[in-house]
Amino acid sequence: AVKKRPLHGRFLHITDFHPDPFYKVYTSTSADAACHRGQGPAGIYGAESSDCDSPVALINHTMKWVGKEFKDQIDFVVWTGDSARHDNDEDIPRSEKQVVELNEFMVQKMYETFGKGDGDEDNGDPNSDYVVPIIPTLGNNDILPHNIFRQGPNKWTRNYARIWRSFIPEEQRHQFEQGGWFYVEVIRNQLAVFSLNTIYFFKSNAAVDGCALPSEPGYQHFEWLRIQLQFMRDRGMKAILIGHVPPAREDSKWSWDETCWQKYTLWLQQYRDVVVGGLYGHFNYDHFMLQDFEDLRKGTRKGKMPDYDKPKKLEADDVEAAVSSDYFTELRDRWSKLPDPPSSLDWPVGAKAADSESIWTKALDLVLNVFKGKKKKRERKEFFDEIGGEFAERFAAAFVSASVVPNLFPSFRIYEYNITGLDEKEGIAAVPSLWEEPTLESSEDDIGIDDEDEDEDEDETHFSDEDDVDIEKKKKKKKKKKSKKHKFAIPDAPSDTSSPGPAYSPQPFSWTRYTQYLANLTHINNDFAGNSIPDSDEKEGAELNTTKWNKGKHSGKKPPSKGHKPDPKTFKFQVHYDTKDDEVYHLQDLTMPRLVDLATRVGNYVPEDEILDDLKGGKKKKKKKERKKKEEQREINEAWWTFIRRAFVETMGRDELRDEF
Ligand SMILES: *[C@@H]1O[C@H](CO)[C@@H](O)[C@H](O)[C@H]1NC(C)=O
Ligand SMILES: *[C@@H]1O[C@H](CO)[C@@H](O)[C@H](O)[C@H]1NC(C)=O
Ligand SMILES: *[C@@H]1O[C@H](CO)[C@@H](O)[C@H](O)[C@H]1NC(C)=O
Ligand SMILES: *[C@@H]1O[C@H](CO)[C@@H](O)[C@H](O)[C@H]1NC(C)=O
Repeated sequence: AVKKRPLHGRFLHITDFHPDPFYKVYTSTSADAACHRGQGPAGIYGAESSDCDSPVALINHTMKWVGKEFKDQIDFVVWTGDSARHDNDEDIPRSEKQVVELNEFMVQKMYETFGKGDGDEDNGDPNSDYVVPIIPTLGNNDILPHNIFRQGPNKWTRNYARIWRSFIPEEQRHQFEQGGWFYVEVIRNQLAVFSLNTIYFFKSNAAVDGCALPSEPGYQHFEWLRIQLQFMRDRGMKAILIGHVPPAREDSKWSWDETCWQKYTLWLQQYRDVVVGGLYGHFNYDHFMLQDFEDLRKGTRKGKMPDYDKPKKLEADDVEAAVSSDYFTELRDRWSKLPDPPSSLDWPVGAKAADSESIWTKALDLVLNVFKGKKKKRERKEFFDEIGGEFAERFAAAFVSASVVPNLFPSFRIYEYNITGLDEKEGIAAVPSLWEEPTLESSEDDIGIDDEDEDEDEDETHFSDEDDVDIEKKKKKKKKKKSKKHKFAIPDAPSDTSSPGPAYSPQPFSWTRYTQYLANLTHINNDFAGNSIPDSDEKEGAELNTTKWNKGKHSGKKPPSKGHKPDPKTFKFQVHYDTKDDEVYHLQDLTMPRLVDLATRVGNYVPEDEILDDLKGGKKKKKKKERKKKEEQREINEAWWTFIRRAFVETMGRDELRDEF
């Protein structure tokens, strides 16, 4: 019998290690050197903010620190891929053997950190080899050539079936060899983590074509996911979805084939009572994104879609994970369109409590409410109609963690989740009271989601608008396109009586916060302390360019003199921020209403010069009031500046950020 583990209500998310055995200290960070040769500022634990990969010393110290601090504090490990070096040096091309060995090395590090060491490894039960289950997922650099992953079984699915043999449940090994996906029940009969093979959704994978054609691995992946999530629902379980490439869908960064995104988002909507959230890596920038169910096409809702999203946009080869500043401004613009809750509404409940409103203002407000009741009721209804009810069930969220590879500063996250009602000593509940008969009130909360849109255009085919076409042409076009549409089974929606899932209202398995950690390599490497002015005119650290190699913040600085030995400070991670105690984010938990609230706040940014313009021409008397207004807007803008500073893991100063955004 398997010994039950105590539950801690915490898990680790770590991603994008990119170990590079060719990394050499004090080599050049330029594109033609990649920290392999030449003379330059590459520090002992990595060249922070550059495109160089991780020295093995960084990997070793990271895992040692994580193990020391968290081995006995967490319930499972989510590890979202890219565990080999980039193909970033023509002189040292990657080989299959090398990619396999680097992945084996990372498994070895996981074993040193979380293994039991009781000689009972590899028994095909991920709950018993390690002190905690570890769930890896395939990254686009874990295969050769990178990004190209064919339908399985193939040598890569076989390679990883072997390399991850102690992580993949025995009974799923065969399935894994077909497609590279699997799930682990991290808390038996209660919570499962689904490792998705996002390389099949990835636009840069030229070997596959989206998720619409039944012959495509992406299609089969979603069939599997639908069936498994339905099992999860039937068993009263919850599921976390993890993957490498996140479902980014902005013009400047459109990562998945649209057919895959459509299915993913439909699945999230239909299983919103089951899915706790999505965890991703790949981009290296710390942020989150929302999947808006209103972006589902009419066809998708009816179980039909075209072959795939044409034309296939391939990402630039070298630095495909990099995102441009446009990506973040597009996210912000998207969020600026979120409706603001009416001022009378304390939504999400308690969000305004952090503000310094006096009891008297509240009391006064209450009195006024009695008179304005009707209007407020209408305002509130309109607001809730727009966001999918008081639980914001119009959205789902994907969280992207920054990476270990120091393209910024090395990072990882510890999530906390609600284990109320689960027996902490036994590690397995007393079934949580999730499946109580919901009250009338809570079923009424389900407003705003309309699964069946009856009066829609039958013939919507491609993912583009078809106006400006005369009727004759249109008819022809429709006929032609219609034949290309592929049917699929629509997942069942939650039952009418089920209450909102853990992504929407606080309950067991809801995420309550995450704490982001960073290792300040500038401090730890201790090479350029107090030397923040470059020795040459070259200064490219702040530059954001997707097509260009980033030489990092120390680019242009002279390497230490010959014979200089590194003199690092003690390697450690520090808390970067924590979503709950943070004075800007102050998220009581990570449920959708709170995330939508944060996104709305980030989206409410107004450029400073616009505020200044606004104030210009104001009469002198008004000045005080206007100053106050400006101060208020500054406060509001703080949400954006904080979000973007954190996206770059504090490697960009305020001025650099202002120049960029
Ligand atoms: C890293 O750890 C491995 C053992 O996992 C060891 O063999 C190797 O020498 C270490 N390398 C460095 C640079 O610390
Ligand atoms: C955890 O779940 C319980 C039971 O559903 C709920 O009462 C509590 O508020 C939740 N805790 C947090 C911190 O969200
Ligand atoms: C990192 O260390 C450098 C050098 O000590 C310091 O100037 C900088 O403020 C630190 N950054 C963070 C985010 O701690
Ligand atoms: C990025 O760098 C490339 C190559 O140096 C250059 O051609 C391109 O114009 C740059 N793009 C931006 C937006 O600066």
